[in-house]
Amino acid sequence: MQTDAARYIGDELAVSAVRLSAICAAVGTPAYVYSARALLDNLARVRAAFAESRPQIHYSAKANANLSVLRVLIDAGAGIDAVSAGEIHRALLAGVAPSRVVFAGVGKTPDEIDYAVAHGVGWFNVENVEELRIINSMAEARGVRSRVALRLNPDVTADTDPHIATGHSGAKFGLLADTIREILATTHSYPSLDFAGIHVHIGSQLRDVSATVRAIQHALDLIRPYPFIRTVNIGGGLAVRYTPDDPAPDWDGFGAALAPHLRGYDVLLEPGRAIAASAGVLLVRVLYVKHQGGRTFVITDGSMAELMRPALYHARHQILPVRRSDSAPVIVQVVGPVCETTDTLGHDVALPPVSAGDLLAICTAGAYGMVMASNYNARPRPPEVMVNADGTTWHIARQRETFDDLTRAER
Ligand code: LLP
Repeated sequence: MQTDAARYIGDELAVSAVRLSAICAAVGTPAYVYSARALLDNLARVRAAFAESRPQIHYSAKANANLSVLRVLIDAGAGIDAVSAGEIHRALLAGVAPSRVVFAGVGKTPDEIDYAVAHGVGWFNVENVEELRIINSMAEARGVRSRVALRLNPDVTADTDPHIATGHSGAKFGLLADTIREILATTHSYPSLDFAGIHVHIGSQLRDVSATVRAIQHALDLIRPYPFIRTVNIGGGLAVRYTPDDPAPDWDGFGAALAPHLRGYDVLLEPGRAIAASAGVLLVRVLYVKHQGGRTFVITDGSMAELMRPALYHARHQILPVRRSDSAPVIVQVVGPVCETTDTLGHDVALPPVSAGDLLAICTAGAYGMVMASNYNARPRPPEVMVNADGTTWHIARQRETFDDLTRAER
């Protein structure tokens, strides 16, 4: 399997028509490379899968909030799902209409709420009663009305990694059905709010649609007595394929299974991973190869500081050599320089023999990659490169951080 973003042209891994070795020669490693075409293709595929429900798509900026990524998607008609005032700020800078922003999050601060009210975001996805009071009073103070979707905790357990499941009642997310009923019986207490939607998101990288169908059914049963609720936000969660043995994601099956339930409602969808993951790779360079304790460690200049998913979730990402080789693969551990045993990019990876200086691509790294990167071990964060939709030109979407960047906010 090759990712949507990267394919071999001859023996060279490329994004669209641009060889990754050429990008590395210009910007060094580690470096993220994104494909505008893959972003647009993924957006189109999600739209097609849900065509029957005609959802407004709000790309979940938490997956990858680089301005160039946001611009590509916003220019193609996407709204934004933001989870902080910082993400709203980025989305507005990238040109989104405020009305096409949904502001979600279990712990919005009063300052963030005021920022969102002041900028006129389209929706607040609300997760607790206190938050409603704050939004109402801030909207009142500014003489505006704010539109609200209540996030239901449907008490449904998603078939995914427990770290990214959100729909069970033991999770911190959403409001239980009884609480939502109580709120909807007292809407008069919030004169500056329009209660117009219900929101459900039971987790990410969902492997099976049945839990989502159950969650949506709960939500629809709940709102039936309240005819003013016409919008159903079905969250994100569409899965992607990280390795060749992952099952192919069934976005069409998701769309088809949900469509009959959603008839007659306005639908919002918040995909993040489905849009961005396969549109990005992380390029790293081999520093050393070390044979020790019966294992082979390929030590690269990329680490858990740049891509945390393998260390945090035991996530597996396919790893490909940037220059293809016909040599028989060997099983190696691809690790980084960070001082923790968990600093692994790939466990038991089959790779042709590599040596110092070789380039590797960590695939399907466009979502939850750079956004979760840190400066751990005082590592400057890597650059991000966008290969443009023409397929032949590219630009640096974010410079590599410098030592000055590392210490700028300190004294
Ligand atoms: N909507 C809500 C309310 C969410 O909490 C999320 C993701 C999304 C939409 C987008 O979900 P997606 O379509 O990307 O599955 N860092 C983890 C994933 C955390 C997901 C958090 N919420 C990872 O690397 O797997």
